[in-house]
Amino acid sequence: AEQTFIMIKPDGVQRGLVGEIISRFEKKGFYLKGLKFLNVERAFAEKHYADLSAKPFFGGLVEYIVSGPVVAMIWEGKNVVLTGRKIIGATNPAQSEPGTIRGDFAVEIGRNVIHGSDSVDSANKEIALWFPEGPANWQSSQHKWIYE
Ligand code: GTP
Ligand code: MG
Repeated sequence: AEQTFIMIKPDGVQRGLVGEIISRFEKKGFYLKGLKFLNVERAFAEKHYADLSAKPFFGGLVEYIVSGPVVAMIWEGKNVVLTGRKIIGATNPAQSEPGTIRGDFAVEIGRNVIHGSDSVDSANKEIALWFPEGPANWQSSQHKWIYE
């Protein structure tokens, strides 16, 4: 089944949004397959956002990600990469729809609370980077009530 990498950024942790965010993915019908709470080092944050290294905001972005602990997660389910991005909302909270995580809980693009992989390919790369040990192994007993 498809998996995505979701990270609650340091502002989401500081603002007490961890439970709310996890709850939204759980209630949707996706399955939590990996979870860790950790501080990341600068070099690791730079690796995670390597595709953005040429951007003028890259330094500030790395500072933001290392500024406190983050919640790193693997979520699994049908179309979870794309649907996860919809649950999160547009990158700039000024454009995120109400009802999305960024639309409901964020104001500025540089403090947008959460990360989600933008494609199946980046999801696989990010999961390998953050969870080299791989996902946890379990199946939800609710599966047949969520998936046809
Ligand atoms: P992520 O899920 O965090 O990867 O966001 P995204 O995929 O919606 O956007 P993108 O990968 O293009 O940018 C990664 C992160 O860099 C964003 O979530 C923002 O926190 C930050 N960022 C992107 N564009 C800007 C910008 O123009 N200014 C600032 N300050 N930060 C930006
Ligand atoms: Mg991105």
